[in-house]
Amino acid sequence: MKKREHFGSRFAVIMAMAGSAVGLGNIWRFPYIMGQYGGAAFILVYTAASIILALPIFYAESIIGRRARTDTFGAMSKLAPGTAWRWAGLLTILSPLLILCYYSVVGGWSVEYLFKSLSFSFTEVPVEEVPHFFKRFISSPWQPIFVHTVFMALVAGIVLSGVKDGIERFSKVAMPALFLLILVILGYSLTLPGAFKGVEYLIKPDFSRLTADAYAAALGQAFFSLSLGVGTVLTYSSYIKKDEDLFVSGVGTAVSDLAFALIAGFAVMPAVFAAGLQPGGGPGLVFETLPYIFNKMGEGLPILTTLTSSIFFVAILAAALTSAISMLEVGVAFLTDERGMNRRSATLLLAFLCWAVGILCSLSFGSLRGMTLLGLTFFDFLDHLCSDWLLPLGGFLFTVFVGWQMSKDDVRDEFTNGGTKNVRVFGVVYFLMRYLAPVGIVVIFLTNLFL
Ligand code: PHE
Repeated sequence: MKKREHFGSRFAVIMAMAGSAVGLGNIWRFPYIMGQYGGAAFILVYTAASIILALPIFYAESIIGRRARTDTFGAMSKLAPGTAWRWAGLLTILSPLLILCYYSVVGGWSVEYLFKSLSFSFTEVPVEEVPHFFKRFISSPWQPIFVHTVFMALVAGIVLSGVKDGIERFSKVAMPALFLLILVILGYSLTLPGAFKGVEYLIKPDFSRLTADAYAAALGQAFFSLSLGVGTVLTYSSYIKKDEDLFVSGVGTAVSDLAFALIAGFAVMPAVFAAGLQPGGGPGLVFETLPYIFNKMGEGLPILTTLTSSIFFVAILAAALTSAISMLEVGVAFLTDERGMNRRSATLLLAFLCWAVGILCSLSFGSLRGMTLLGLTFFDFLDHLCSDWLLPLGGFLFTVFVGWQMSKDDVRDEFTNGGTKNVRVFGVVYFLMRYLAPVGIVVIFLTNLFL
């Protein structure tokens, strides 16, 4: 058996985990989902879901991954040999690959916006025109597919270069840079005329907007944003050393992820109102709003717009890449560890399949707009299927596995590093993993299904 690669330090672990977590989910998905479900009230539900339901599942995955030291499929077979649990492992290999199909499309949008920034496209037109760039771009047949292809090629290239070199080096620079930039944008956005209405929208909860599916959406967003229920955290944890502190890396990841989403929400929403856009405008929201902010920022000084927006889209591209590579990595780990395929063929095969399905997602904003499943376009269907159903289902299975299938002694041993760390919090975490998280998820599933 070959020796497993390891992350170099605790900082590297948190950075790589946060790199997987922080991505388009925070900056692209959170603001528009929050806008669709009414702002402040959704933020409250989302925050609660992240802490009470999502974090315990993060721990469940970490425990399984580090205990078994292999991919999801292998982990289930190893810790519960001869049981049907290995099929749960298989599910969590499929769902990140499904996500990658449409994630890469949105990743492509960032590539396009980087090109547009560098070529001064956002500064050549009056500021009111800027939000309309997105509609024109997205309905053109080839350009979105071209940039989707560029994005997927980048993902495959990084995954091919191996765990340490590719993933670690990338995450370490990109994350802090993005964080600083978002803060700058936040500060500026608040000064825009009309921004106050956006702030009000974010802090004054209107509970009448919380429909039954808002809870499922909040849970789904929490899972999507923390990369949960898909075996990503599990697989990454299999690369964590035995003496690292699982509790600390979980809290570190969850807090940075939540902070990123909230800051992005507060940066985008005031500008949505200032630009006269609708908060419930859907997947294009951030791509309509950000160029508006940059354009305003640099009024009379186009070079400033170009500079800030270029740096921003490079950073968001990096964030999207660190997430996307983690989606592909799960499947690659499976094919190499379990099926003996070499890394190169596994990466190329999976990237190609996701790329092909991604084309359909991309076209669903243009020529395939009329093709719907359950009333949703192909893109929206896949997104809802993954976030609202497959991810929580995967998380449910992981937490039931840890709470009910593994022995409590094993779970404690892994979480507390053999009784040397976090012994006091273990009781609470165990209760959440065994009872609260699974029950909470089932209740939300049933509510979504029947109400
Ligand atoms: N968490 C990532 C983001 O916020 C998306 C993701 C989902 C990554 C599932 C890996 C697995 O962008």
